[in-house]
Amino acid sequence: MSMASKFIVATSLLLLSTLSYADAQHQALGKPASHLSPQSQWNLSISPSGENLPIGSGTAEQGKQLFALKCAVCHGPEGIGATAEPLMGEVGSLTSDYPEKTVNSYWPYATTLFDYIRRSMPINAPFSLSSDEVYALCAYTLSLDGIIAPELDLNNENLPLVTMPNRDGFVAIYPEK
Ligand code: HEC
Repeated sequence: MSMASKFIVATSLLLLSTLSYADAQHQALGKPASHLSPQSQWNLSISPSGENLPIGSGTAEQGKQLFALKCAVCHGPEGIGATAEPLMGEVGSLTSDYPEKTVNSYWPYATTLFDYIRRSMPINAPFSLSSDEVYALCAYTLSLDGIIAPELDLNNENLPLVTMPNRDGFVAIYPEK
């Protein structure tokens, strides 16, 4: 090995060891996992049966006011008619010539609505809503198509009992062996 190659090898080794030393000492990104509580933003998934739903409640009337403030700009004044996905309407259209997938026409479980709104809406301020506000927004959206009665106080116990119109429209198919 020439003198120059030896120098390059030695320098590279020195550089590598410095880098790995620095990595071991300073992982400056993120937070240590131990600081995340069980209800943290990493552990939010709600099952179709409502497992993991937080305690809380809200009505369609409360949701209507919130919706006008925080959602209508993108989803339209009553959940339809603006740039973002329509949330209501078109129930029963899936088997027609012009099927339309809205939350109310397509989603099989009401609990998914809570999960989705809590983790991602408003799209420009995710995680900004309280549990009561999310229940109220679910109540408003579902009441727009009469899926729940407008006066129902929606909460962690009765949300999983809501039957979505397309509840039986999904079929589990497993490949044959
Ligand atoms: C700045 C615009 C904006 C605002 C404000 C907003 N949304 Fe959305 N929303 C979107 C967009 C865009 C999507 C589609 C996202 C995608 O498909 O990845 C969406 C999707 C959704 C969906 C899923 C629809 C589907 O069929 O997939 C729901 C439910 C929803 N929003 C509820 C809300 C609620 C409730 C609020 C108010 C708290 C809200 N959004 C505020 C833009 C917005």
